Amino acid sequence: MSAAIQPYTLLDDEDCEARILAAREELGERLVILGHHYQRNEVFRHADFTGDSLKLSRQAAASKADYIVFCGVHFMAEVADILSRPEQVSILPDMSAGCSMADMANLQNVERAWKELSEVLNPDEMITPVTYINSAADLKSFCGEHGGIVCTSTNARHVLEWCFEQREKVLFFPDQHLGRNTGYTMDIPLDEMVVWDFDKPMGGLTVEQIQQAKIILWKGFCSVHQMFQPEQIDNFKQKYPETRVISHPESPFEVCQKSDYIGSTEYIINTIANAEAGTRWLVATELNLVNRLHEQYKHEGKNVHFMSPNVCMCSTMFRIDPQHLAWVLENLVEGHVVNQVSVPGDVAEQAKLALERMLEVSP
Ligand code: 13P
Ligand code: SF4
Repeated sequence: MSAAIQPYTLLDDEDCEARILAAREELGERLVILGHHYQRNEVFRHADFTGDSLKLSRQAAASKADYIVFCGVHFMAEVADILSRPEQVSILPDMSAGCSMADMANLQNVERAWKELSEVLNPDEMITPVTYINSAADLKSFCGEHGGIVCTSTNARHVLEWCFEQREKVLFFPDQHLGRNTGYTMDIPLDEMVVWDFDKPMGGLTVEQIQQAKIILWKGFCSVHQMFQPEQIDNFKQKYPETRVISHPESPFEVCQKSDYIGSTEYIINTIANAEAGTRWLVATELNLVNRLHEQYKHEGKNVHFMSPNVCMCSTMFRIDPQHLAWVLENLVEGHVVNQVSVPGDVAEQAKLALERMLEVSP
């Protein structure tokens, strides 16, 4: 019988650290731990590979380990399951580590949107559905079935270029900001990127708006990145005019417009890593990552600041704690798989198609 989580919740982080190290030693190459950049340090330091969503999905696809323990959120563990071999097992240490943005689109709402759009035009001939990787597997499957594709914050532009080679319009879900920020860099005017409000009939749009749109943006957003505001940049720059601003593309349009650099978590890390000593950075992304960058680069004389005066942490990423990691690993040592993330075969097949299209067009 598998050990229950409850006793682990009473352990302090130091005890967990020792138990995680011992379990890793025992499991050897049968185990790989993948860690997203937003993970807290006590977990992040145990990752064999760290990265943004694209890099980690490639790692999952390439891994030979029996067990892929994903320190991230649920959609990431689903992608690992879809892209790995059937006998490999994908594990999420805490099943309640979801992504609130991913939850803003569901299959029922997307299918309804597709049906409503078909009253105005023929979506299967005119619209490519694109789902941000931050979405449930059944939405990736929807995209696979309808000639669509997945994107991440790294490859969104390449993906959109591919889409416009296939069909004239895009339905982009669930993150309106990534869609708008990317579309704008491709010279698509703002009024040709309309927002589909999934709570309203016909998305709250007129027939003319739908006909004229190049990109139909789902009304979803990340509650963490939504907190960043252009005034925060103005206020900071009054004090430190030399500041370079770098933002994740899930941030609002106005913030990205005032930023010097826009890109994925991996891009943000690389840009600051490669900057000269003495530079000052204002960063719009999740707090754990920004704090790590601050600590890592202060010795090189680089000043890294968090954009918002308020704490903007991804509370679901934070659910992966050393206690849950110790719990899943010690169970594996005992031969018990707990918290397996398994995508049903029919969904996985179509979702894989959409993911493979993405991997093919990615730089
Ligand atoms: P990245 O792929 O840039 O790491 O982004 C993932 C994410 O969830 C950002 O909020
Ligand atoms: Fe989802 Fe936002 Fe957390 Fe990223 S930061 S996992 S988009 S809730």
